[in-house]
Amino acid sequence: MELQQVDIGTEFHAQPEDVLTERIAARKLELGEKLLILCHHYQQESVYQFADMTGDSLKLAKHAAACKDKPYIVFCGVHFMAESADILTGDNQAVMLPDLRAGCPMADMATLDEVSWAWKELDDVVDTSRIIPVTYVNSSAAIKAFVGEHHGSVCTSSNAERVLTWALERGDRVFFFPDEHLGRNSAVALGIKPEEIILWKRDLHLGGNTADALKRAKVILWNGYCTVHMQFSAAHVRMWREKDSEMKIIVHPECRREVVSASDQYGSTENIIKAVSGSPPGSKWAIGTEINLVNRLARLNPDKEIHSLSPFQCLCSTMYRIKPKYLLWVLDNLVKNEVKNQITVDPDTAKLARIALDRMLEI
Ligand code: 13P
Ligand code: SF4
Repeated sequence: MELQQVDIGTEFHAQPEDVLTERIAARKLELGEKLLILCHHYQQESVYQFADMTGDSLKLAKHAAACKDKPYIVFCGVHFMAESADILTGDNQAVMLPDLRAGCPMADMATLDEVSWAWKELDDVVDTSRIIPVTYVNSSAAIKAFVGEHHGSVCTSSNAERVLTWALERGDRVFFFPDEHLGRNSAVALGIKPEEIILWKRDLHLGGNTADALKRAKVILWNGYCTVHMQFSAAHVRMWREKDSEMKIIVHPECRREVVSASDQYGSTENIIKAVSGSPPGSKWAIGTEINLVNRLARLNPDKEIHSLSPFQCLCSTMYRIKPKYLLWVLDNLVKNEVKNQITVDPDTAKLARIALDRMLEI
């Protein structure tokens, strides 16, 4: 979702990096206890250094929910993360996204209209009251509300298998969106047979499936994907295996099935950090996730050999829009008690989306 970002002006665009860093630090001090800066692990260092809390999407959502005393929450992540924070925080708290253009292309691949239409088509073939919808947290608040209303749950990359198990205990089948790959990797890990996993192709009648195939399916996957994690291939895994037999391969579950199955391990950003940081000195890793996190792990673990799985820079270019100048612009305005770029979810949507988010936090 590309929202309109106002021009912040030359006062911010023209500043050198060191000046921006100094000014952000000063504003942070001024705002003191009123301010909470949350940063996702894919954030660039020039912003990440100012985080009060860093994490994967699950950890950040939980932290936002726990910090009831912070009136200003600046979310250095992407739009859906700021929306989740707004849903989980109180009315007296403002959640801000420093650059409104920081969206997630995958989240935009499942709109409420498309999902509602698919549900209607499914209703002609199977009993939709026996389908449990599960949405990856990388989705709009409107999609989360749809899921809340239809007795489903949100999941993240660290709990997708647990949420899928919960859902399959409550219905005949799961409709999983928007990420085909996280859905397939989690379903396969649970031992669901490949023939019981079916792909729903947006824009095709019945998602391009026959009624019989849908009746047999246990897991129906929406065909959304992450443009960053799709850049890793099984050929990259083979390349590292041939180069160095000691190289361990770890990837994010948004990667394709063949990449995950060829790797030694897979996990959410938080789990990748734990695995690499906890490994013995001298360990060698090729990591299939966003480049800012891979570079940070390499810097923080000089006793290990750390590479990106791909020879190309796999950058989340929308997350990268959160630059120091936008962070400073938001903080400068907060000092004047002016809230810029507030992310608000309308109360009806928020109420239903919260049901789906709370279910996940309980599972
Ligand atoms: P995590 O849940 O691992 O933080 O992943 C979020 C995300 O957007 C990965 O692309
Ligand atoms: Fe979205 Fe992929 Fe960026 Fe994550 S890395 S925010 S899924 S585009």
